[in-house]
Amino acid sequence: MTAPLSASGLYQRLLGYAVPYWRLFGIAVLSMVLFAATDTGLAALMKPMLDGNFIERDPRTIRFVPLALIGLFALRGITGFITRYTMSWIGRRIVQELRRAVFHRQLRLPVRYFDNHPAGRMLSRLTFDVEQVAEAATNAVTVLLRDSLTALFLLLYMFWISGWLTLLFFVTGPVLIVLLRMVSRRFRLLSRRIQDSMGELTQYSEEVIHGQRLVKAFNGEQWQEQQFEAVNERNRRLQMKMAAALGASTPVVQLIAACVLALVIYLATLDAVTQQISVGSFVSFIAAMLLLLQPIKRLTNVNALIQRGVAAARSIFALLDETEEPDNGRLALQRAGGTIEFRDVGFAYDSDKGEVIQDLSFSIQQGETVALVGRSGSGKSTLVNLLLRFYDPERGSIQLDGHDLRDYRLADLRRQIAMVGQDVVLFNDTLAHNIGYASPQAPDEMQIAAAAEAAHALEFINQLPQGLQTRIGDRGVLLSGGQRQRIAIARAIVKDAPILVLDEATSSLDSESESLVQAALARLSEGRTVLIVAHRLSTVERADRIVVLEQGRLAESGTHAELLANNGLYADLYRLQFREDTADDRPPG
Ligand SMILES: Nc1ncnc2c1ncn2[C@@H]1O[C@H](COP(=O)(O)OP(=O)(O)O)[C@@H](O)[C@H]1O
Ligand SMILES: [Mg+2]
Repeated sequence: MTAPLSASGLYQRLLGYAVPYWRLFGIAVLSMVLFAATDTGLAALMKPMLDGNFIERDPRTIRFVPLALIGLFALRGITGFITRYTMSWIGRRIVQELRRAVFHRQLRLPVRYFDNHPAGRMLSRLTFDVEQVAEAATNAVTVLLRDSLTALFLLLYMFWISGWLTLLFFVTGPVLIVLLRMVSRRFRLLSRRIQDSMGELTQYSEEVIHGQRLVKAFNGEQWQEQQFEAVNERNRRLQMKMAAALGASTPVVQLIAACVLALVIYLATLDAVTQQISVGSFVSFIAAMLLLLQPIKRLTNVNALIQRGVAAARSIFALLDETEEPDNGRLALQRAGGTIEFRDVGFAYDSDKGEVIQDLSFSIQQGETVALVGRSGSGKSTLVNLLLRFYDPERGSIQLDGHDLRDYRLADLRRQIAMVGQDVVLFNDTLAHNIGYASPQAPDEMQIAAAAEAAHALEFINQLPQGLQTRIGDRGVLLSGGQRQRIAIARAIVKDAPILVLDEATSSLDSESESLVQAALARLSEGRTVLIVAHRLSTVERADRIVVLEQGRLAESGTHAELLANNGLYADLYRLQFREDTADDRPPG
C-alpha cells in the first residue's frame, strides 16, 4: 500500500516538521557556531600563554590570558545552554506533532488494519518510536552540527599553524569515512530489529496483563514465562549486538586517530620543524589535535543515534501513510427514517478464506424489530459490522432509506445507529462519562440518570459510594458482566438513535435482570428500527420478523409461529434450546 521510503525521503519529511521553527533553529545554529569556536579559542590561547606569559613575560598577556579564559568559558556556558534549550524545544514540538498525527491516524484506520496489526506494535509507535525520532532530531543534530563545526574550526586553526602537518589528517580522513560507512550499515539493521523486538515485548506483556485472569484460571504462568523469556532473550541479544557494534567502533576509530597524533608529534619534534614553530604554536597545535578527538568520537557515535531515528521515522511514516477508513459519501443525514435493505450482499474478511456472507438479501422496514438468529459463526456479528461500515461488502449493497451506506458521510451514518455489542468496552473514567459517551461535550446528568434507570443500572449504581461519579477502573473490571451490559444499554439509550442494534446484548444478564432489561429495551424499541441478535431464542420470540442465517446465507425468515410451523432450522434450534432450558434453567449465553 505504501512505497518504502528512502532514507533521504525520510529526512526530507522529518525536516518538514522542523521547518516552521527555522528561526529558532537559526538561533541554535548561531549558538553552536560560537560554542564550537570556543574550543579553537582554547587551543589558540595556549600560544600567547606559553610564548607571552612564560617565555617573554609580557605584562599585557599576563593580564589578558586569565581574563580570556574566563570569557571563553562564560561564552561556552551561555551558548551551550541556548543550544540545548532551543534544540529541545524544537524536538519536543516535533514529538508532540508526531504523536498527534499518529494518534489521529490510529483513530481513523479501518477496522481491518487493527485485525492485522498487533496492538503492542501500534502502542510502541506512539511511545518508543516517537522518542527515537526526537533523539535524532535534537541530540543527533546538535552533535552533528556542533561537533563538525568544532572539528572544522580546529582543523582550520591547525592548518594556519602548520599546513603540512594538517595534511596528514586529510590523508587519514578517508580511512575513517569508509570505516563509518561499514559501521552505519550494521547499526541500521540492528536498530530496526531492536525496534521490532521492543514491539513484541510490549505486545506480549500487554496481552498477559489483559488476560491475567485467564492465565491464573488455567495456571498458565509457567508457560507464559517461558514464552516471555524467549522474547526477552531475543531483545537482550539484539541489544548486546548493538552494544558490541557501538563499543567496537569507538576504540577502532580512536586508535586510528591516536596513530595520527603520534605521527604528528614525531614529525613535529624533528629538528627542522621545531626551528620554524614556536613552543606556543606547537603546544597550540597539539592541544587542537587533542580537542579534535572528542568531537570525532561523538561524530562516530551519532551515526547510531541517527540510524535509530531513521528506522523509527520509517515506521511512523508508514503508519501515517496508511489509508484512512473510506469516507467518500457526500450525503448528509440528520435523522434517518430507518429502513434498511440488504441487497445480494457478499463479504469476505479474507479473500483466501472465502465469503462469510453470501448473496444475502432482506430488508427491515422503518420501526420494525427484526431478529437475527443462527449458529455461532453464521455471520450475525458480521452483518452488524457491515451495517456500521466497519467493513464494506465486496458485492451487493446495503441501503439505508434508499441510499447505499457508502453514499452517506461516515459520521452521519454512525450517528443513526446505537449499538450494544457482545464485548462491552468501558473507559477508565466515571460511570457518568461512560454512559454519556455519545455526547461527551454536554453530558446531561438528568439524561444519564434517566438512561441508567431505564437500563436497570441505577439500582446497583446507587449502591456505589459515589454513584454515577464512581470511577470504574481500567476497562471496568470492577463491574460484573451483567452490570457492564446494563451500562452499555444505558449508553445506547442516551444516544437516542433511530436504529438500535443489539448483538447478544443481554447474554450476560441473569434471567431476572434480563426480563427487566428486555422490558426497557421493548420501550426503547418503540418508533425505532431494531436489529437484534440473540442466542437465547426466548428473547427473539417477540420480534416482528426473524431472519435465520446459516453459513452466511439466508436460511429462512418469518415470525416465530411461522418458522416453528415451517419446521426448518429455526424449529431445530428452538427445540434444542427448549430441551436445554428444561434441563438447566440458564443455558450458556
Ligand atoms: N475480524 C475477522 N477476521 C476474519 N474472520 C472473521 C472476523 N470476524 C469473524 N470472522 C469469521 O467470520 C465468520 C462469521 O463470524 P461472526 O459474524 O462473528 O459470527 P456470529 O456472530 O454469527 O457468531 C466466522 O467464521 C468467523 O470466524
Ligand atoms: Mg457474534
